[in-house]
Amino acid sequence: MKKQITFIVGGLAAAWLAGTPALAAEKLTLYCSPQIEWCNLMVEAFEKETGIDVAMTRKSSGETFAQIKAEARNPKGDVWWGGTGDPHLQAAEEGLTEEYTSPVFDKLHPWAQNQAKSASMKTVGIYAGALGIGYNKELLAAKGLPAPESWADLAKPEYKGEVQIANPNSSGTSYTTLATLVQIMGEDEAFDLMKAMHKNVNQYTKSGSAPIKAAARGETTIGITFMHDMVTQVVNGFPIEIVAPTEGTGYEIGSMSIIKNARNMESAKKFYDFALNADIQTRAREAKAYQVPSNSGATPPDESPDLTKLKLIDYDFAKYGSSAERKRLLKRWDDEVGSLPR
Ligand code: F6P
Repeated sequence: MKKQITFIVGGLAAAWLAGTPALAAEKLTLYCSPQIEWCNLMVEAFEKETGIDVAMTRKSSGETFAQIKAEARNPKGDVWWGGTGDPHLQAAEEGLTEEYTSPVFDKLHPWAQNQAKSASMKTVGIYAGALGIGYNKELLAAKGLPAPESWADLAKPEYKGEVQIANPNSSGTSYTTLATLVQIMGEDEAFDLMKAMHKNVNQYTKSGSAPIKAAARGETTIGITFMHDMVTQVVNGFPIEIVAPTEGTGYEIGSMSIIKNARNMESAKKFYDFALNADIQTRAREAKAYQVPSNSGATPPDESPDLTKLKLIDYDFAKYGSSAERKRLLKRWDDEVGSLPR
């Protein structure tokens, strides 16, 4: 009798173990677009707090958008964390991301909340950062070049071969730069400037922060990136000078979105809530990430550029994050700038 009961219970337990997803190890596939050091920190901290296994890949903002779009019928990613806001807004508009309101939402700065509200809660702001011009002051001095002060300066013939910037198709940084120039000087004038600047560009990189890393290593004199990426190189001890262009500058609202029909939806929401918390946002400095955090209770690093002291443009996220506008501007860039001989 005892044996029989044991058998029945054992049989039930085996079936229950095999069939209950709650007991399967929880997983998360994370698409990460900020600096790899910060991606790694987030993965480690989240795994430690929740025991959920994270598979993470780092790709630039435009690249990640393209991947999520290509995978839309059979999504492989769960959360897209970080990267410039425009392609997140485009993903929201194209129905590639999931609506979600975190319990932490009320703690966010208005700029981060507005990003979410403008996209029917299909994305949210996680950090902010402004664009700048960075240069290697030792290299600049050695070459006897004047320091650039404005966007317009970047087209001057003396900077031939001295400027590096990312490709706006792959990089959110570079798309933000393109959209910033359009908003500052008007579209045709901005394209004229980018065409003239093309002669000075030694390489269009895939990743947005690569140009300032190259400037730090002495491989290019000037790099156009977000200022916080320049700060990282200064903190690392490289001779980088950070310039706020005289015409004013654009900025990003780095964003996060849950991918539509994510396979691990519960894990995705846990990560989303985790990433909006003040404590984890304050820890970004450990990865030398100097963006301004979106949670009003998080402490920005002392080294972060003070965005309130910059001449920031009133960046029109709704327009430049719209699918039609982003596609149109990228096509025009390919046709008129990227394809030009140098
Ligand atoms: O390096 C960090 C960072 O500048 C983020 O602030 C930004 O969202 C992201 O990189 C953009 O990267 P990319 O230009 O490669 O898309």
